[in-house]
Amino acid sequence: MKVAIASDHGGIALREEILSLLLELNIDFVDLGCECRTSVDYPDYAIPVAEKVANQEVDRGILICGTGIGMSIAANKVKGIRCALVHDIFSAKATREHNDSNILTMGERVIGPGLAREIAKVWLTTSFEGGRHEDRINKVTTYETNMV
Ligand code: RB5
Repeated sequence: MKVAIASDHGGIALREEILSLLLELNIDFVDLGCECRTSVDYPDYAIPVAEKVANQEVDRGILICGTGIGMSIAANKVKGIRCALVHDIFSAKATREHNDSNILTMGERVIGPGLAREIAKVWLTTSFEGGRHEDRINKVTTYETNMV
């Protein structure tokens, strides 16, 4: 598995935590920034990660900002993206099993590093269940494909 990861200025510390988790899990990754602690705009980081996932350059994406909300809004505008904003373990597992989410977002100002690591670990290691869940995803994809 290969993961693209990015954060804005509000998510740098948590991104570093998740980068160390990826190393620990021996998961290949590409880190798309941000590099600085000055204020940046989350769409400039969410969209490149989402495009890499949508173009199948990577398998999954992880995005972190202050709340996770801006990143999830921006990522979900890219066709083919199912981005889940998650701050608990139950949802991390459920969104992989039921939604086949391909991007995870979290908010550094919302949860601590320990919980965020556990969420990311569960999300990275849980498989999609398919079946009736696939039919539901297909309805979303059909709507998305027919959008003008
Ligand atoms: C930046 O201050 C903050 O707005 C951003 O990190 C994020 O929380 C937006 O949704």
